[in-house]
Amino acid sequence: MKQTVDQAVAAIRPDPGSRLPDVGLSIFAVMSQKAAAAGALNLAQGFPDFPPPQSLQQQLKKHIDAGHHQYSPLAGVPLLRAQIAAKTRHCYGVEVDPDTEVTVTTGATEALFSTITAMVRPGDEVILLDPAYDSYAPAVRLAGGKTVHVALQPPDYRPDWDQLAAVVTDKTRMIMLNTPHNPCGSLLGHDDYQRLQQIVAGTGIFLISDEVYEHIVFDGQTHISMLQYPQLRERAFVMSSFGKTYHATGWKVGYCVAPPDLSWELRRIHQFVTFCVTTPMQHAIADALEDPTHYEELPAFYQAKRDAFRAALSGSRFKLLPCHGSYFQLLDYSAISSENDVDFANRLIDEHGIASIPVSVFYQQRIDHKVLRFCFAKDAATLARGGELLCAI
Ligand SMILES: Cc1ncc(COP(=O)(O)O)c(C=O)c1O
Repeated sequence: MKQTVDQAVAAIRPDPGSRLPDVGLSIFAVMSQKAAAAGALNLAQGFPDFPPPQSLQQQLKKHIDAGHHQYSPLAGVPLLRAQIAAKTRHCYGVEVDPDTEVTVTTGATEALFSTITAMVRPGDEVILLDPAYDSYAPAVRLAGGKTVHVALQPPDYRPDWDQLAAVVTDKTRMIMLNTPHNPCGSLLGHDDYQRLQQIVAGTGIFLISDEVYEHIVFDGQTHISMLQYPQLRERAFVMSSFGKTYHATGWKVGYCVAPPDLSWELRRIHQFVTFCVTTPMQHAIADALEDPTHYEELPAFYQAKRDAFRAALSGSRFKLLPCHGSYFQLLDYSAISSENDVDFANRLIDEHGIASIPVSVFYQQRIDHKVLRFCFAKDAATLARGGELLCAI
C-alpha cells in the first residue's frame, strides 16, 4: 500500500514526546486571535494600546546611536542595576546591593522561569494560589516539581492562610505569591505578610513574589513589597517588569531582587537561558529611572482608566468586582447567563464583538465562578466603546 508523506516521515522520525503534552496555545493568544478574526474589541490580552513615554523612546534611540549593541554583563547593565536599587530604596525604604542582589531578566517571565528552574528539584512541591498567572505551573512541572493549588474565592480573592498552611508538607520547596494580583486586582496587606512569616518560619521554604504591577495600585493604597519584611526577604525572589511600568511589554525587560546566594542560583540558570537582556533597552530604562515622576504618577494614571471603565459599565447587567490594583477589572456575569465562562467569553466575541479572558482558565481545577477578566490599559475611546458593548448585553 502507498504511504502518505506524513506516514513516511512518521516511520523514520521519532515521536517528539512533548514535555507539556496537555499545554496548548495560551488563552491570551487564543482569545486575541479570535478577536482579530471576528473584528472584536480586544480587552482580553493584558497590554496597553498606548505607547511608552516619548522620553523613553528617545533614550532608546540615543543608546542605539551611541552604539550599545553588544552583550551586557549577564546580571544586567551596572547603571540599570544601580537605578533598580535606588528605586527600591525610594519606594520601600529597603537597601539592596545592585551587584549581588539585582538581576535584570528578559521580562518577569524569564525571572520566573529561571528562578523555578534553579530552585525546584524533582519531587519538590510548589504552592500556588489560584487563579494563578499561566506561566507558573508549566515551569514547575518542567523542573520536575509538583504544583499544589489553593483556590482564592470571589469577590475579594483574599488568601485563606489556614488553608495554605494545611497544604504545607516536608516536600514544600516554594510558595508563589502575586501582588497586585492578575487577574483579581487584589493586594496583599501587612496581615497577609505576618501570616506568611509564621507559616515559613523555621522551614526550608523559599518564596517567589511576583510584583510586576507594583506601581499600579488605587484609592490611596500603597503596594507593600515582600522586600519590606526581612524574615521573608531572606528567602525570597522578588520580581518586577518594566514592561508594565513603562507601557512597553514588548521590550521584555524585568528584574529579580534576591539575597546574594539566591541571586547567584538564579544567575547560574539565567546565563544559559539568555545570558543577558537586550542592551539598548537596559540603558534607556536606566536613564528613565533617574526621574521617579513616571512611576509615581502611574497609580493616578491607571486609576482614571479603571474609573472610566467602571463608570462606562454602570448601566450594565454585569457585577463589578473590587479592583485595588493591576490593570484588570473582573466582571461577574451570573445575572446574565448560566453558561460556563469559556462559552460565554466565546459568545461575547462572536455575538457582541468584545473579547475578554474567562477566569476559570487560571484555576487548575477550572473553577467557574462566572467571572471574566477585562484589561483597562486602553485609551479612553476603547474603554468607552467597551462599556457600550457590555451595556448592550
Ligand atoms: C502576574 C504576571 N506575572 C508576570 C508577567 C510577565 O511579565 P513580563 O511581560 O515582564 O514577562 C505578567 C504579564 O502579564 C503578569 O501578569
